[in-house]
Amino acid sequence: MVEPIRIADAFKKAQPGDSISVRGWIYRTRSSGGIVFTVLRDSTGILQCTVIKGELPEEDFKSAEKALVESSVIVEGVLREDKRAPGGREITAKKFNVVHFAERFPIFKDQTEEFLLDNRHLWLRSREMTATMKVKAMILRAAREWFFENGFIETTPPILTENACEGGSTLFELKYFEKKGYLSQSAQLYLEALIFSLEKVWSLTPSFRAEKSRTPRHLAEFWHLEEEAAWVTLSGNLEIQEQLVSYICQYLAKNSREELEFLGRNPDDLKVIEPPFQRISYTKAVDILRDKGYEFRWGDDFGTNEERELSMLDNKPVFIIRYPAEIKPFYMKITPDNPKTVENADMLAPEGVGEIIGGSERETNIESMKERLLRENANLENYQWYFDLRKFGSVPHSGFGLGIERVVRWIGKREHIRDTVPFPRTVARLSP
Ligand code: 4AD
Ligand code: MG
Repeated sequence: MVEPIRIADAFKKAQPGDSISVRGWIYRTRSSGGIVFTVLRDSTGILQCTVIKGELPEEDFKSAEKALVESSVIVEGVLREDKRAPGGREITAKKFNVVHFAERFPIFKDQTEEFLLDNRHLWLRSREMTATMKVKAMILRAAREWFFENGFIETTPPILTENACEGGSTLFELKYFEKKGYLSQSAQLYLEALIFSLEKVWSLTPSFRAEKSRTPRHLAEFWHLEEEAAWVTLSGNLEIQEQLVSYICQYLAKNSREELEFLGRNPDDLKVIEPPFQRISYTKAVDILRDKGYEFRWGDDFGTNEERELSMLDNKPVFIIRYPAEIKPFYMKITPDNPKTVENADMLAPEGVGEIIGGSERETNIESMKERLLRENANLENYQWYFDLRKFGSVPHSGFGLGIERVVRWIGKREHIRDTVPFPRTVARLSP
């Protein structure tokens, strides 16, 4: 028996004329007369197998004729060049062993988005989902590498919490023994506690938002990559962000070409993503929008249309900095010479994608934070531990949160954010 190789290696390592074995699942199959054309899929690609009656045991030929799409098989044969086959190669089968005869697969062409979501556990086998998950894995790997190489320490903050980091309206509440608890919206407050010993930290956690809005950018559960560092002010925070995002883009352009191209992203688009990114003040952004005909009042938050407009200002991400304090959370530092704005920034990805990062320098004035928390009707009791961080060796510090799925959506050119997670959680969906 020949040891199976991966399908990608049938194109990259093996040579025409070699006897090889591959294993995987039937991607498509058709038979005519004494020939069965079967395309096999594994995690690395697809390969056509030509099964000719008389050239392999009769029992194997019958199996090949009978096996439906998604049957799992092991095929042994000779690798050949064939221009008509996908990728220009195929194998002619000498053995065709069906490991499991699949039932009729419910997914075929032209089915509705709802149907595919109901059958997500099976739709995950699609080449689009496979390529997207590989791109996501590479983005995570790039980020982890960048943090490691730049002296940041990975930490493990809690998911169950008593605090609202991003305001009460999107909290998932749960019963925590005899108390009320919440699923974390952000690890930020805990990362802030960790900088006093570790100085430069990061974490990757699920974050939860009870977002009622059905948009192509919101999930109820997403993967949140967050950073926090001591001795860093707004300008330093932006430099860390643009370096990290540029590193991810360069890494993907180099290591994920095939998947990106399959998804419709030209890897060269990512090569231009290098520091510096433009810094545009919120106030300037309002002027830009008005010049373009938007009726927009200073003090309002950008809606989808405004954000799309701003995110098309460059072919790289742009920062919008110093938003009105009124529309931002309690922990953002008030701008020293302007009490109306905060030392924050949103990073907007290009091509109309919009916000991928939200971050800020942190407030150190306890009274200012208390005032803003009270305006949100928060229970100050739950924040006493957080105020302690400002009582014992407080330092200027900043951080940010990057939505992994938002970045996958941008880099992988996905229309809807739900297609960047295997099992999307949205207002309409908790299963499969
Ligand atoms: O802007 P946000 O709400 O900021 C925070 O949570 C800060 N506490 C982060 C920090 O400073 N440590 O969220 C950060 C990012 C957004 O820019 C977005 O990319 C993503 O998280 N995000 C979502 N992604 C998918 N679905 C949602 N509902 C999201 N909400 C936020
Ligand atoms: Mg935000």
